[in-house]
This record gives sequence, C-alpha cells and structure tokens, in this order.
Amino acid sequence: MHPTIFVIFGITGDLAARKLLPALLALYSKKKLPARFSIIGFSRRSFSREEFRELIRSRLNIKPGEFKEEDVKHFMDHICYEQGMFNDPVAYQRLAFRIQEIDNRWGQCSNKLFHLSVPPSLYEGILNNLAGSRLAEPCADETGWTRILIEKPFGRDLETARNLDKLLGKLFDEEQIFRIDHYLAKEALQNIIAFRFTNSLFEPIWRYPFIDKIHIKLFEESGVTDRGDSYDEVGALKDVGQNHMLMMLAAVTMDRPKSFSSADIRTERAHALKKLEIASGNSLKESSARGQYAGYPDEQGVPRSSQVETYFRLKTFVSNSRWKNVPIYLESGKAMAESKTEIDVYFKSTNKDGDQNIITFRIQPDEGIKIKFFVKTPGYEFMVEPKTLKFKYSEQTQESWQMKLTDYERLIHNAFIGDQTLFASTDEIMASWRFIAEVTKNWSKLPLKIYPKGAKEII
Ligand code: BG6
Repeated sequence: MHPTIFVIFGITGDLAARKLLPALLALYSKKKLPARFSIIGFSRRSFSREEFRELIRSRLNIKPGEFKEEDVKHFMDHICYEQGMFNDPVAYQRLAFRIQEIDNRWGQCSNKLFHLSVPPSLYEGILNNLAGSRLAEPCADETGWTRILIEKPFGRDLETARNLDKLLGKLFDEEQIFRIDHYLAKEALQNIIAFRFTNSLFEPIWRYPFIDKIHIKLFEESGVTDRGDSYDEVGALKDVGQNHMLMMLAAVTMDRPKSFSSADIRTERAHALKKLEIASGNSLKESSARGQYAGYPDEQGVPRSSQVETYFRLKTFVSNSRWKNVPIYLESGKAMAESKTEIDVYFKSTNKDGDQNIITFRIQPDEGIKIKFFVKTPGYEFMVEPKTLKFKYSEQTQESWQMKLTDYERLIHNAFIGDQTLFASTDEIMASWRFIAEVTKNWSKLPLKIYPKGAKEII
C-alpha cells in the first residue's frame, strides 16, 4: 500500500475515541495499514506531546490481552498532534507544513485521507480551509490521492445536504468523497445482498405479489445517554431513519445490480430510494406514529418542553413494479426493552389460516438469518405447524467469525483502498432527504405518545 497520512479533525472527541482510533489500532495490529502511515490529530485544545500520548492511550480503552503491548506502542508512535482552531487559516498552513515534513522524510508524495470527526456545524469552515491551504489537492498526478471521510448527519434537510454537497463538489470529485453510514459496513447488512443475489431459491419471488410486507426495526435499550442536546435537534426520524434504516430498506428492496462493482450497487440502492413514497393523503396519521420515552425531557441537554420523538413508526412503499402495494414499515426507538436491529420479510399466506413464511435478517446483536416455514404435523389429520431454520454467524467456525471486522475497521480499510460500496453516494443522500422532506411536512402534527422506558411495543 502507498504511504498514507490520515488527518483526523476532532481527534480528542468522542467518535475518534470510541470508533476511529480503536479501528485504526485493530487495522494496524492486523497489518492492514500501509507500512508507512501517519495519523495527525487536529483539535482545538493545546497539549504537550506527552499529555497527548497519554490522552490517546487512555481513550483507546484497551482491554487486557486485546492487543500486543508492542503493537500498541508502535501504533502510538505513528500519531502526532497539531493544535489549531478549525476556522483559522494559519493553523492549516501549519498542518500543511507538518504534512510536507512527513512527505519529505519519506521522500514520497503520500496519500492524504481527511476525516471530519467534528460537529457538522464545523464542516464548512474546515472544507473552506482545506481548499484555501490547497491540502485537498493531491501532491502528484499519478500517486498521492486525497480523499475525505465525512460523518452523518450529512445535512439537516434536503437544502442543507445540497449545499454541503456543492461545497464538497468544489474541492473533491465524487470518487474522493466517502460519506459514512456505518450501517452499510455491518457484516449482516452486506449479507442481505449476498443472500438475495446468490440464492436463486428466493430471488424470483422477492417481489409483489409474493411478498406481503416488510418490517424494519432498529430498537435500542439505551436512551440518549449524554447526547441529549445534539439528539434533540434531530429526533429519531433524522437520527437513524434518514440514514441507517433507509440503507437497510435499500438492501432488501434494490434490484439486482448489473455487477457487484461499487458503482452498480450504489446505483441500484439509489434507484430504490428514489422510488420511496409514504402512505398518501392524510393517512400519515393512520399509518405512522411518534413517541417519546418517559423522562426524556429530564435528560442532560434536553429542553424540558421537548416535543422531539425518540420513537417512530412509518409505513412506506417503493413505487416500482417489483414492490407496488407492498407496505414497508420502518420502526425505531430508544429506551426500548432490548437492543435489536432486524428485518422481517413476510411472504403471502397460501392457506385460510394465514400462515406466512417469514425471513428474518438479524443485523445485530446475534447476527444471522431465520426462516419460518411449515411442516405437516404427524398424525391422521392434515394439519401444519411452524418450524424455524436458523443460521447464526457466531456459530460459524471460530476462525471465520473472528475475521469479522468492526464497522469502522471496514470503512477505514475501504477508504484506503478506494472502494466506495459501503459509503452513501450523493444520489442516495439526496433521495433519502427528499423522502424525509415529504414525511416531515406533517410530522409535528402527529400526536406524541409518551411510552415507558423499557417498552416492548409501542402503540
Ligand atoms: C448513530 C445514531 O448514527 O447510530 C445513534 O446517531 C445510534 O443515536 C447509533 O445509537 C446506532 O448505531 P449502532 O451501530 O450502535 O447500532
């Protein structure tokens, strides 16, 4: 792999500590990073070299035996710090100088990967300064690409997403932009595409009129934890509905891509999202629900009068010939009885008792697939009873399961190798915001139902 410098804007923040740095360390210990690589952390606070090392070391939160001490020590040697205000052009000159120093030491024009691990309100300033300091430009024609990794939320609505895209488009081509939706990198979500398009048993009937309905659920046991203030600006629909849940929806409903190339998969996902519709007319009220868990307004950072939803249910349709009239339910909540993300695909019943085959994709935890089918009950009568076929990833041979990467390991690895399959394209982002814009037109008119923490079902 070509030498690469990974610049993390906001390295002292929560995301870098929880996801990015552990993933980089894991990739390092698996020898998946280039032999020559450097991480430059950029943030506002000022630290001495030692203080910074200590902060990173403690933030990595390494469990005993998780990594070899030697690997951790060498990994730390690859990280350095550049203090600066995100909107200060001089700080970017210093950053450019630091990068140049590393390139000089290596005697090569290295790749540069910029990661925005900061609140979205800082994106614009950082992007403008990247342009001003010419850091977004590769240092040579043939080698030394520059790429940008950008976190969700990608905009707050259609208009702000468009503006952000325009700004990014001035600095980078689409091939250089990696918009993160970490759900796309989940093993069990990728498996939906593999399962659907490899098993000819199901694909011919993966459509109207054979499928009755699809139910996509993302339930979390925890509440908003310490993210009350930022969560309250968006609510459940925008926090996980506009992104993670629509990506799950795209995986179950997309048509077979021409090939399994990144471009073809992204095109098909976008096609499905562009056809998304909510139940029409005033039936939003009948087909949808909003809820808030009891005690949410007491959470740190949440206004006492908050009317923001922590739960929602929505009935949607993909209006193409494959899916016409097949309702797709999206449902998500915080402070639910258990954490589980799964997709149930119900097939039409063929008997008067309404028995239905159901395929369940378990995205997490306990990743796997369950198929409900019916067999004859032994005896004189002609009666059937339900049985289940189950596949669990954790029951795979230990080795192959341990090959599993965390979502951020996979995302960073794919950004290094330039594979955009697991990143949202501009088309997908715009299609999802267009859909959310339709929903939110009447969203606040829906009554907000207060549900107890730990609820199993709402409404
Ligand atoms: C984030 C949301 O994007 O996804 C969080 O902002 C949510 O509110 C999280 O908890 C869920 O991700 P995961 O990987 O823990 O299921």
